[in-house]
Amino acid sequence: MDNIVGESLGLSAIGIYLHAISIALVIAGSTIALLYEVLSVIKGDDKYHNLAYRIMKISIISFAFGAVSGTVVEFGLIQVWSGFLLILGSYGLFPFYIELLAFMIEAGLIAFLVYGWNRFENRLFHISVISAIAFGSNLSGALIMLVNSWMNVPWGTGDFVKMFYPWAPIYGPDYLNDELMLKIKEILVLDGRPLTQVLSGDVFNRFIDMYGPLIEYPWAAFESIYAWVSVAHQLLATIIAGGSWYAMLLAIRFIRGEDKLLQPLQDLLLFLAVLMVLQGVVGHDMGVQVIKYQPTKFAMMAGLVESGPDPIVGLTTYGDPNHVFYGFDYFINISRGYRPPINTSINYTDMVLNDLYKALEYLPIVNTLYNLKISMAVIAGIIGLIFMYTWVYPSFWIKRRMIMYSLVIIFSTLVTIVPILGWAVRELGRKPWTIYGIFYPEELISLVELNLFTIFIVLGGLILSLSLMILTIYLVVWRESKWI
Ligand code: HEM
Repeated sequence: MDNIVGESLGLSAIGIYLHAISIALVIAGSTIALLYEVLSVIKGDDKYHNLAYRIMKISIISFAFGAVSGTVVEFGLIQVWSGFLLILGSYGLFPFYIELLAFMIEAGLIAFLVYGWNRFENRLFHISVISAIAFGSNLSGALIMLVNSWMNVPWGTGDFVKMFYPWAPIYGPDYLNDELMLKIKEILVLDGRPLTQVLSGDVFNRFIDMYGPLIEYPWAAFESIYAWVSVAHQLLATIIAGGSWYAMLLAIRFIRGEDKLLQPLQDLLLFLAVLMVLQGVVGHDMGVQVIKYQPTKFAMMAGLVESGPDPIVGLTTYGDPNHVFYGFDYFINISRGYRPPINTSINYTDMVLNDLYKALEYLPIVNTLYNLKISMAVIAGIIGLIFMYTWVYPSFWIKRRMIMYSLVIIFSTLVTIVPILGWAVRELGRKPWTIYGIFYPEELISLVELNLFTIFIVLGGLILSLSLMILTIYLVVWRESKWI
């Protein structure tokens, strides 16, 4: 069982990372095309309009592959983690449904844009359609993040988690049918098998008859502040990373002699640098939210085996470098003598302590990844400041092409690695749970043995689709002799 869970987690993670490449090209592409289209109107300069066209083409090609790989990833939620259906039909219902609506807006308008680009001269047409596509792509990304955020911070479950874990916060209003969830949890703990094997349709229906539906308000995921900060942090990360890949393409063409690309490239770098500053502010807020709602994750990130100060976080969050943050010693101590306020045959105290020891095993890796992430983000931020400074001198890079090219490559590499590390921190940091404080991965898995053939088919399919995407971008857009 442990093997299957570990392999499935690894497979899901690789699938999501691969899918994220096309998503970043789509979301960043439509956002940057919009920026260029607006600049073309403000500056009255057609080269920005032509560049928006090239970028939109890459974005559209990536959209096709992103839609397909996204289907593989979303199917994975049900095929590999079939217990997740419980969430899909409750807290995840509206975020997923509206995400699909956003996806339809995006898909429909992309077709409209492709056929209308040369037919409609009016720039207002281009700006409106690209804005709507950018809105659709950002919105669908935001809603997927909303569901992932709910898994990190199960908003709308009130004090359900706190009932077992005395150090846990209260997750907003209690829209959860505590009795039913408790019953499900007890059966899972006693049986030891995954949810879909223990609760067949019949048994589940009987439970619903006895206890009523699982939740009373399906919009809870939208009410979580943690989720919206996550959405902002993630969308900024996507636009910065994907945007830096477009900047890299422009920098390569610039260095090969397309001098006219210099100004649009500098404008793009300035835009990304401003987003980096904003990301610093949002990132700080992300940290504050983690301190509040995922105490064990924060202790892992800050390396707090023992409670103690974290001077930088203490100073920036509470204005006091000596502020003492809770570490695992505190969580373990307070859990030792604690008994949940319910009648049950389950030894919850052992379960809670066991969970804490499991979480503690992840501390060294989460702490290292987080420190690496923040250090790289700071270096990328400093390069961003150089881009801001040199924007004021439009001709600064003419005689320093190689330096600019190298800086763009370093910046792009850093802002690609930082989100990869960020995701690793986010997902490893909520272990041993998949739904923080409620379900373990072992409880939601489908228990299908993953052999080499299955892994080859799933990963092979994703890698093949990604390679085809890159080849199409190369043949259709990159090989054009001039971009503007
Ligand atoms: C120095 C500023 C930054 C701080 C303080 C910061 C803080 C954080 C924190 C605390 C998390 C964990 C969130 C969670 O688990 O709930 C996180 C995750 C993440 N970070 Fe950052 N971050 C910063 C900069 C950046 C930058 C520059 C990028 C990308 C360009 C980035 C991309 C991500 C991503 C993709 C995640 C995972 C998804 C998410 O939680 O939104 N971060 N960051």
